[in-house]
Amino acid sequence: MKSISLASLVVAIGSAKFALGVAEYGQCGGSGWTGDTTCDSGLTCVYQNDWYYQCLKSSSTATTTTSKTTTTTTKITTTTTKTTTTATSSSTGTSAKGTPVGFGAGTTGGAGGVTVTPTTQAELITYLSDSTTRTIILTKIFDFTTYYGTTTGKACKPWTCTNGYTPQMTIDTGKGECDASLTLYSVTYYQAGHDYSLKVGSNKTLLGQGSSTGIKGIGLEISGVSNVIVQNIQITDINSQYVWGGDAILITGSSKVWVDHNYIARVGRQFIVTGFDPATQVTISNNYFDGTTSYSASCNGEHYWFLLFAGSADTITVTNNHIYKTSGRGPHVGGISGYNQQIHIVNNYYDTVGGHAIDAAVSSHILVEGNYFKSVTTPDTGTSSGGLEYFVQTVSDATTCANYLTRYCEWNRFESSGTVASRLDTSVLSALDQSAVNNLTPMGVADVPTYVVANAGVGIVN
Ligand SMILES: *[C@@H]1O[C@H](CO)[C@@H](O)[C@H](O)[C@H]1NC(C)=O
Repeated sequence: MKSISLASLVVAIGSAKFALGVAEYGQCGGSGWTGDTTCDSGLTCVYQNDWYYQCLKSSSTATTTTSKTTTTTTKITTTTTKTTTTATSSSTGTSAKGTPVGFGAGTTGGAGGVTVTPTTQAELITYLSDSTTRTIILTKIFDFTTYYGTTTGKACKPWTCTNGYTPQMTIDTGKGECDASLTLYSVTYYQAGHDYSLKVGSNKTLLGQGSSTGIKGIGLEISGVSNVIVQNIQITDINSQYVWGGDAILITGSSKVWVDHNYIARVGRQFIVTGFDPATQVTISNNYFDGTTSYSASCNGEHYWFLLFAGSADTITVTNNHIYKTSGRGPHVGGISGYNQQIHIVNNYYDTVGGHAIDAAVSSHILVEGNYFKSVTTPDTGTSSGGLEYFVQTVSDATTCANYLTRYCEWNRFESSGTVASRLDTSVLSALDQSAVNNLTPMGVADVPTYVVANAGVGIVN
């Protein structure tokens, strides 16, 4: 179990590379791949998707030992078939693909229940919210933007951009959202985003087919339930010009939630938020979080309110996500003393973050390993917020993990990014010595950008 990371560490620090071919977890093929296609001995080049083949231990692959040439040919045939049948939308699957790694392991959603394909918003509301075990297939975008009408209220302008960007305004509902010194303006916004959400019951899979399905103008509320999968959908355009315009996904008082291979963009508030009741056994994986916005509170075209984990006992794995143009809260964790969040942030691709990524406040325990930070101004906000973190930067940091976990850690890598002061709270490792962390063997950080860009978001798994 301590085998792979050391090899990748040795390669990464530029010491002699003994390997004859591609190392374990390296890319060895896929559409457009011009690199090495031969794996080290003992490894097999395994199809992951049309754009990415990966070298894996032969014993860990379920596939037979077909030669790679044969496999490639088969996939080209499949691709052709898929392209042909996409137009008639009949070839995509009706159950979630894959299984979650990390804290969300064991989440099955609507598996074993009935499968339904809603055609109206009202059907979708019912199928999602009742207590029947179900897989709900989305074959189009369900646009809720105007479904509950508009309302006129007050908003203030907490930010002023002097560089040409237009910042968000903040909706004031009289609960102190706007500082008393700020002028209040009359604004109109959509109630679907601000006052409503799509409530999700227990034992549900919400599964999009293709790359253009999902919900628009409203978020999901996963509250007081268990066993939910949200896979391959878009969630977009929720009053994005207003702070408090709406969250894309709220998870609170719930367990076993897998948010996988989705696309989230242009929301008013958080992309994903928990709190204050515990969000346990949650895995957030392979999503494309697109923070590009015309209403940037941080005056840089990027969305500030990204991930907020504030629950009293959250256990969350964040892995293999493409995090693009967010500028804050990536994630913000904790903030209330006496709570206890256990968060594993591993193998994500932070791509262009004009503010900060990880922000650990009091009560948080965060292991940060194997992430690739490209053009990230502040990868970590440092110790001032009071949280506990183990942020892997050196060989020594990575090997120390094995004194607590059953494996080494993978280090984080920076490209055109800010530096991170040493954050090595080993109590984080003690807290995270759990199967959800031990059993997740990170890929080498050098492979993260290519892998994540090819795998994250909608239209990949279904
Ligand atoms: C969800 O499924 C489990 C296992 O079948 C069952 O025990 C539980 O009662 C279900 N939850 C609801 C709310 O129906």
